[in-house]
Amino acid sequence: MTILALLLPTLLAVRVQAELEVLVPELPVVALYGTDTTLNCSFPLAAPFNLSDLSIFWQLTDTRRSVHAFWDGRDQLLDQGESFVNRTGLFHAELGSGNASLLLRRVQIADEGSFTCFVRVEEYNSAALLVLVAAPYSKPEVTRGLELNLRPGDEVSLTCEAYGGYPQASVLWQDGGGRNLTDNVTTSAVANEEGLYSVHSVLRVAVEPNSTYSCRLLNPLLGEEGLASVTITAQNIGFPPVALGVTVGLAVCLLGLLIALGVVCHRKIKESEAAEAAEGCKDNEEDESKTAMTPLKS
Ligand SMILES: *[C@@H]1O[C@H](CO)[C@@H](O)[C@H](O)[C@H]1NC(C)=O
Ligand SMILES: *[C@@H]1O[C@H](CO)[C@@H](O)[C@H](O)[C@H]1NC(C)=O
Ligand SMILES: *[C@@H]1O[C@H](CO)[C@@H](O)[C@H](O)[C@H]1NC(C)=O
Ligand SMILES: *[C@@H]1O[C@H](CO)[C@@H](O)[C@H](O)[C@H]1NC(C)=O
Ligand SMILES: *[C@@H]1O[C@H](CO)[C@@H](O)[C@H](O)[C@H]1NC(C)=O
Ligand SMILES: *[C@@H]1O[C@H](CO)[C@@H](O)[C@H](O)[C@H]1NC(C)=O
Ligand SMILES: *[C@@H]1O[C@H](CO)[C@@H](O)[C@H](O)[C@H]1NC(C)=O
Repeated sequence: MTILALLLPTLLAVRVQAELEVLVPELPVVALYGTDTTLNCSFPLAAPFNLSDLSIFWQLTDTRRSVHAFWDGRDQLLDQGESFVNRTGLFHAELGSGNASLLLRRVQIADEGSFTCFVRVEEYNSAALLVLVAAPYSKPEVTRGLELNLRPGDEVSLTCEAYGGYPQASVLWQDGGGRNLTDNVTTSAVANEEGLYSVHSVLRVAVEPNSTYSCRLLNPLLGEEGLASVTITAQNIGFPPVALGVTVGLAVCLLGLLIALGVVCHRKIKESEAAEAAEGCKDNEEDESKTAMTPLKS
């Protein structure tokens, strides 16, 4: 008796709740940023019903903010959340067949979260589904610091960058043999106004000739998104092309200077020989001082 008395309300509740079945996807719905997505919600009914008896409320589960409402046979959008204005719609032609799905246009990062679909046709019920937003990153790019005169064993910084994605991606660095490099890696992410991330990862390695380093970008929702790599060749180490160019340039300059010096010396020697012969050297000196005095006189 007592047990039955305790169970009865529960049994009744289950029976009443079961009157109207509201079905939504059990797995999170992954929506691509900027695209349109459909949030499925259906209520299978055996008997046909009058549309004016149907009420549908789509709400944010946490805040109960209205996403889209329908009753009295039409959309009711007066108290719709600001961020959803002009972005929602029901499939009116399908309402009669138990389809209360919501069309959500131009998906934003802020749309991520739980949505509740509430349906009433005499009886009522609701169900919640989770929306996850995904945005693909740009192709990752690897750049190398501008260190010159690298010698084997020197440390070099490699930077891998990608932007405009969601959610936060992880970066996996690998060497030429496909081994994971996890030491000396610093990865950070910054979100822009729309909530899209830029990822920045720096790997510091001791260089060896002919070594390749790759950066793999892994988006938890979209899988591997991109791969970029850089190879440090033997040329980059020891005698980089830039330093080589500078050295050659300097050598050419030096040679030119030496030749010029030689020519000048040769002339001077010849001149002094001539001066000795016809005291031209003294005249020359007087001429020079005259020229220098002229501006002072005038
Ligand atoms: C929505 O429902 C339709 C029809 O049942 C199905 O084909 C589609 O895969 C569903 N979409 C999601 C995201 O569950
Ligand atoms: C509801 O109708 C829309 C439009 O025809 C369709 O895309 C969607 O898959 C339907 N959902 C279900 C659960 O049947
Ligand atoms: C649906 O309900 C409205 C209002 O209650 C009524 O005027 C209309 O005749 C009904 N339509 C049908 C097909 O029963
Ligand atoms: C919604 O669309 C209407 C008509 O196109 C437009 O006047 C209004 O500014 C739009 N509102 C927003 C928030 O985009
Ligand atoms: C490298 O790391 C990734 C992700 O952490 C893992 O899936 C993979 O098995 C690792 N590979 C090696 C060779 O350790
Ligand atoms: C990480 O950096 C430390 C200190 O600079 C260095 O001793 C070590 O070899 C580096 N590890 C790898 C895997 O490059
Ligand atoms: C680097 O690679 C080049 C071409 O692949 C090869 O000729 C050279 O011997 C390699 N050097 C080293 C130190 O492995």
